[in-house]
Amino acid sequence: MSVPPGKIKEVSSTANPLVKAIKGLVLKKNRDSEGTFLAEGQKLVTDAIERDWAVRTLVHAKNALHDDRHRDQVQALAATVHARGGNILIVGDKVLTSITRRDNAQAVLAVVEQKTMPVGKIDPKSGDCWLALDRVRDPGNLGTAIRTADALGAKGVMLVGETTDPFGLEAVRATMGSLFHVPLVRATVPEFLKLANQWPGQIVGTHLRGAMDHRTIDYSSKPQIILMGNEQQGLTEELSGACHKLARISMDGAADSLNLAVATGIMLFEARRHALSET
Ligand SMILES: C[S@@+](CC[C@H](N)C(=O)[O-])C[C@H]1O[C@@H](n2cnc3c(N)ncnc32)[C@H](O)[C@@H]1O
Repeated sequence: MSVPPGKIKEVSSTANPLVKAIKGLVLKKNRDSEGTFLAEGQKLVTDAIERDWAVRTLVHAKNALHDDRHRDQVQALAATVHARGGNILIVGDKVLTSITRRDNAQAVLAVVEQKTMPVGKIDPKSGDCWLALDRVRDPGNLGTAIRTADALGAKGVMLVGETTDPFGLEAVRATMGSLFHVPLVRATVPEFLKLANQWPGQIVGTHLRGAMDHRTIDYSSKPQIILMGNEQQGLTEELSGACHKLARISMDGAADSLNLAVATGIMLFEARRHALSET
């Protein structure tokens, strides 16, 4: 059965109930209860649609239809969303600015359904590399780590324990669209430990007191998990204990550690070096 196309509505007031509901998605409790989140800008909305994420509502500026830079693309996005059963909201600049709380609001944004992959669906294969993040707190770090995992060809990102919301505005912005390209898995610590126990390959934890220089580890062939620690506390003892190796990234200055997202980039680059050199 085909999905009936959604509604098309023009709204000019920031007090409109539909607009208020969309604005409410800046709060985690509303995102959780609705199961949706906001993706801002043509690039992110296009990525969401192309990757078949369900777009409940596409919001676009009325002005975009009179602007040569945006018109064709916005109309194409709106047509696809509408044909798939999503709603279209055409709004004034004031309404757009009020939703994103930015002066220079993007011409288009979307309310997208959240999607994560269950831990049980992970099917490790030789050559795969997964990134796991222990209790990541900072949304910018999380978004940047997801973007980095995507860029360096990781199979997906596991969020272990209580983390910042990957569907929050700041995290989504920092992914630059990569959120729609790499599977995201949420795991409790016991779920991760169970996975680690059955993992057919290697788990490399990263630790300031790791016993191995990260460049000396062999990451080829077997499926890998690169496990990164929390920004304040590093990896817990329990998670460190589940790792086959603990890697240290050499440092030479006064800083006592690297930023989490930077350390993630260095580790993933090293772990994927053999695969990247073939591309
Ligand atoms: C900001 S650091 C955590 C610092 C924390 N105070 C600690 O004692 O671990 C965040 C994470 O980045 C990674 N990291 C940062 N610098 C690192 C280094 N030089 N070697 C290995 N991992 C590092 C680790 O995963 C660490 O848990």
